[in-house]
Amino acid sequence: MALQSAALLPCAFSIHKEGKSSKDSCFFGVPFCDHIKADSSLKIKHGSRKQSVIRAEAVAATAAPTFAPATAQGKKTLRKGTVVVTGASSGLGLATAKALAEGGKWHVIMACRDFLKAEKAAKSVGMAKENYTIMHLDLASLDSVRQFVKNFKQTGRHLDVLVCNAAVYQPTAREPSFTAEGFELSVGTNHLGHFLLSRLLLDDLVKSDYPSRRLIIVGSITGNTNTLAGNVPPKANLGDLRGLQGGLTGLNTSSMIDGGGFDGAKAYKDSKVCNMLIMQEFHRRFHEETGITFASLYPGCIATTGLFREHIPLFRLLFPPFQKFITKGFVSEEESGKRLAQVVSDPSLTKSGVYWSWNKDSASFENQLSQEASDIEKARKLWEVSEKLVGLTD
Ligand SMILES: NC(=O)c1ccc[n+]([C@@H]2O[C@H](COP(=O)([O-])OP(=O)(O)OC[C@H]3O[C@@H](n4cnc5c(N)ncnc54)[C@H](OP(=O)(O)O)[C@@H]3O)[C@@H](O)[C@H]2O)c1
Repeated sequence: MALQSAALLPCAFSIHKEGKSSKDSCFFGVPFCDHIKADSSLKIKHGSRKQSVIRAEAVAATAAPTFAPATAQGKKTLRKGTVVVTGASSGLGLATAKALAEGGKWHVIMACRDFLKAEKAAKSVGMAKENYTIMHLDLASLDSVRQFVKNFKQTGRHLDVLVCNAAVYQPTAREPSFTAEGFELSVGTNHLGHFLLSRLLLDDLVKSDYPSRRLIIVGSITGNTNTLAGNVPPKANLGDLRGLQGGLTGLNTSSMIDGGGFDGAKAYKDSKVCNMLIMQEFHRRFHEETGITFASLYPGCIATTGLFREHIPLFRLLFPPFQKFITKGFVSEEESGKRLAQVVSDPSLTKSGVYWSWNKDSASFENQLSQEASDIEKARKLWEVSEKLVGLTD
């Protein structure tokens, strides 16, 4: 019933901006609900690896964590884990940082582009100072990514879990905007920035002595065309990656991965497909060799976050009640933070290569990715092209 309503309603809305209908119709490229049941595990295998430098407002560095002897039986107490969360200054990232910090078992590195905003955000949710460190990271600049990695390594901390959460979404943009290196902004930030970050920090995860090391890349239902939400136009489609191969510059080549005309909503969805493909490619290349858990997730529709900040005011007004009362896919920021925190630290979620979702009762399950989002050959090609674009290979 909720799904039927969801299927009908987007078509009933046509929101115009400056006389132009928003292509991102939908309740608009955004998850309708996460009640779409599915069940699957992804196939597994193995692989290889790599690393690199400029500016920042890094803070703090506490003593490198260690295993402390605890009980008389010689058992060890689990040291506090260190987790890096990108985009922890708002929404899902902030809620996750809060959930992890208040449990007392994690020190959260809030990897954010706006230091003051992050500091205010941490204070606003009551995070205790000793449980977090803010470090500057602008994913729309590969130099900044390299500098972040350098700064992190200089803190001398272990890296136990990396959460690639930050994202930009430009559903009403008529023209593309670009990262420092000239990549279309959504794919450049959400995918390429995180890809370089993950690659450069992989060695740190490998070196960690934490019992369960994890690399988590936040996905989305909107990139999965095997769902209702994923079928709302414009649909994600990476095509044969010809636009990405051309560098997404929008100059002599397309700014879209599939080589088509610019569409901000589609660029976001495409970037989420990249996130989910890359998680699986990490899994195939590195899980067996390193034991690291690679995972992705759809946290539910968190209709109140800043992700929709560039949407028109009417959308921002109607979207939360639409999700709450019509699709019933609404998830509060607090609940979504608990979900992602679960993927970070729950001992029962150690399976690698999984795309997690939650049912109506907030129980986690292994969800099934769309054909494109689980295309092994496309993932391999995406990995190789991305390596070239971020300067890891020639
Ligand atoms: N909201 C949903 O319904 C929903 C559903 C499925 C998946 N997701 C996913 O959840 C994740 C978090 O989104 P959200 O809803 O929490 O949105 P949000 O509140 O807008 O959070 C996005 C975060 O990313 C940061 N960010 C953006 N560009 C950045 C850059 N260049 N460098 C570093 N950080 C940057 C933002 O920083 P500033 O604070 O400085 O802007 C912010 O902290 C995203 O991966 C999104 O795709 C969300």
